[in-house]
Amino acid sequence: MTITSENNKIKKVKKNKLTEENTENINIQDKKKIKKVKKTEIKKLKLIDLCAGTGAFTLAFEMTNLVETVYSNDMEPTSKKIYDENFNHKLTLDNLCNIKVEDIPAHNIITAGFPCQPFSIAGKQKGFDDSRTNVFWKILEIIKHHKPECVILENVKNLASHDEGDTLKTILSSLEKEQYHIKYKILNTSDITSIPQHRERIYIVCLKNKEIYDKFNFNFEKVNKNTVQSLLETRVIENKYYYNDTESKIHKMVIDSVKNKDTVYQFRRVYVRENKNNECPTLTANMGTGGHNVPIILDDIGARKLTPKECFNFQGFPENYKLPKMSDGKLYKLAGNAVSVPVVKLIADILVPELSRVLNSST
Ligand SMILES: C[S@@+](CC[C@H](N)C(=O)[O-])C[C@H]1O[C@@H](n2cnc3c(N)ncnc32)[C@H](O)[C@@H]1O
Repeated sequence: MTITSENNKIKKVKKNKLTEENTENINIQDKKKIKKVKKTEIKKLKLIDLCAGTGAFTLAFEMTNLVETVYSNDMEPTSKKIYDENFNHKLTLDNLCNIKVEDIPAHNIITAGFPCQPFSIAGKQKGFDDSRTNVFWKILEIIKHHKPECVILENVKNLASHDEGDTLKTILSSLEKEQYHIKYKILNTSDITSIPQHRERIYIVCLKNKEIYDKFNFNFEKVNKNTVQSLLETRVIENKYYYNDTESKIHKMVIDSVKNKDTVYQFRRVYVRENKNNECPTLTANMGTGGHNVPIILDDIGARKLTPKECFNFQGFPENYKLPKMSDGKLYKLAGNAVSVPVVKLIADILVPELSRVLNSST
């Protein structure tokens, strides 16, 4: 038998699904070959991305080539638009609290950047008294039902100190009750990736497997930052982003202060603040809306706001990540809410091969 005809036979049997009945006509040697082929097929880990927003978690995990997304959810139509534009998998648009846990497919990994306003310094900090915190309890319900091997949660840095640490304690003990081993750390994008954005966020990694937990740590090396200029768009930028209105008070303040091309500035009510570390200040969901300002840079033409595309660059999204047609305000919000892709990628690169090894050795 030639190799091609053997392969065809194997393919045919695989297509017909391998059952006792349809293997009757195959000799023992062929059966062994089929087993070998099956054995070398690597099963992908199944991911669900909750509160998915831009899909930054999906993106970073799928980059490992060992993960497939089987479910993603967000309640914002803008999220569905940007997610569906960028991923094969289509996002379920609904309030997560209304989703039945049985309707979510089986999975190995959950990622969730659950709403941060209840814990954020900018918000009223009502914590568990805020109805948006219901999302955390819903995630816990999903965890209880599906028992995934790994859960990764992300939130604002302030979650760690909110209510004198009691909020975080409640979250951790609820997860420990579900038999997870947990490590968490506040990570700053500009410290551990080449992306020059000061962004401190808490990452909580929960693992069922003690061996993987023991091996995992957040000790990522310090990395040299890219220059601010290297993240700017090279096309001609529309006039609307420049401070051109010579009549306005803001214009004078910006022109007087924005002098250095190597860093990023931010308009703060009464003055313009220069970032002394040559990096972008934390991008926020409300930049571009009432009183909250988009960071400012100086280019060859003059002082201007970062464009939405540049804000996505400062979150480490790759060049081919697509921005659908929608208002700048909506794009700024999506970018400001996102997790930095390279930070998640650092975590995924450590965890995914380990989780994949366990999954594939147990099947
Ligand atoms: C901090 S953002 C997470 C962004 C995401 N991790 C990313 O990288 O783009 C929180 C997200 O949770 C979504 N969200 C808040 N409450 C929700 C709910 N009850 N059901 C579904 N999504 C919700 C918001 O629309 C928002 O996109």
